[in-house]
Amino acid sequence: MSESIVSEPTIFDKKPMVMTLEAGSYHWCSCGLSANQPFCDGGHKGTAFKPVTFEIAESKQVALCLCKHSGNAPFCDGSHAKL
Ligand code: FES
Repeated sequence: MSESIVSEPTIFDKKPMVMTLEAGSYHWCSCGLSANQPFCDGGHKGTAFKPVTFEIAESKQVALCLCKHSGNAPFCDGSHAKL
């Protein structure tokens, strides 16, 4: 695999991060390289990945995908169980 063009996301963890988010806009890391999981820190630079922006309307608990293989990103859909 080329080091500059990475097409498979890096599995950060095989479980979601459950956290309470306040209302606002967030940038979920899709590449798995961010040091600020589950959010983008710009570490995707040089890969084919871009962060996924999502909105939270009111404070709520969410399970954010860390395996980066969810079909319902940024939210966990259980895909980590098949990796
Ligand atoms: S660091 Fe992973 S998408 Fe930005």
